[in-house]
Amino acid sequence: MKALVLIGGFGTRLRPVTYSVPKQLIPLAGRPMLYHVLDLLPTDIEEAVLATGYKAEMIDAYVRAHPLPFPVRTVPEAEPLGTGGGMRNAGEGMSDPFYLLNSDVIAQVDLRDVRARFDRLGGAGVMTLAEVEDVRPYGVAALGPDDRITGFVEKPEPEAAPSRWINAGVAIWRRSVLDRIPPGRALSFEREVVPGLLADGVFGYRLTGYWDDAGTPERLLRSQRLLFGDDRGRIGTLPAGAEGTGPVATMEGATGRGAEFGRWVTLGPHSFVGPDAHVEDSILMDGVRVEAGAWVVGSILGPRTTVRAGHRVEGQVTGEAAEL
Ligand code: GDD
Ligand code: MG
Repeated sequence: MKALVLIGGFGTRLRPVTYSVPKQLIPLAGRPMLYHVLDLLPTDIEEAVLATGYKAEMIDAYVRAHPLPFPVRTVPEAEPLGTGGGMRNAGEGMSDPFYLLNSDVIAQVDLRDVRARFDRLGGAGVMTLAEVEDVRPYGVAALGPDDRITGFVEKPEPEAAPSRWINAGVAIWRRSVLDRIPPGRALSFEREVVPGLLADGVFGYRLTGYWDDAGTPERLLRSQRLLFGDDRGRIGTLPAGAEGTGPVATMEGATGRGAEFGRWVTLGPHSFVGPDAHVEDSILMDGVRVEAGAWVVGSILGPRTTVRAGHRVEGQVTGEAAEL
């Protein structure tokens, strides 16, 4: 089987950090969001095809430098084609069936189980579903017997939502689904194509493990907390000479001698946290400097951001080389 991974979004809700880095390369618990998604794939798949757009060259360079157990190929879009257009553009030579993954979801699911459900029930595909409180930002499924999806509404008003079970962004589809996407224009797979597939049989697979969409600052940090609670988070240890509780994922070249760490921190490559500084529930990207005695909580600091000595930063998202 092959996998098609959608990576074209602009990450607008994570600006300004996404002005310089695509959201899929933001490290959560020491590993880019995209890699947590790719970790879901069985290691014996034939190929993962990444449908890229925004900052496609950065994604391409990253996957070349950090190989996975299976081949990965990127197919960039000249202009954003939406989820449906992106699938159509990158879908040539796809397997039947194929995995479809959004690249900004943190999910705990065994894809072999999803495949087994597809093999048992047939139809056009199986969509994994997560149960959430607030369905408004998602695609919502109405479910019939056998969890057959009988209706699907993308981003409904709460009163129009048929259930609290939403498209978790991890699915299996028949290859023929790609032929149902009109070529040559931008479109949303969820809005314009999925409703028309329901008559062929689309089945839900209810997730029982954790799930989140990491598309906003709050949810990105929540996703990191979920991953730190799981082995897939590759939990690191405190950097040499540091104190505190952790967990801290210390990436290559990061240092924190004399600093104090609370829970859930990623120290990006070559980041530096000075003596008596305190960092907690945060992501520090490449080359961030937190100077002596500074305090960083609940924040996502973009590459080469500096927090000056003694400053306190809470709930901030910064872009490249910000000075606080
Ligand atoms: N190639 C390509 N081209 N990919 C795109 C494009 C594009 O123009 N636009 C978005 N994507 C990618 C995003 O990078 C993301 O991985 C995925 O497609 C979904 O796009 P989002 O912009 O994150 O959509 P969403 O979060 O509002 O809604 C989607 O995900 C929800 C679950 O998190 C939908 O699939 C919903 O139905 C679903 O519930
Ligand atoms: Mg999303």
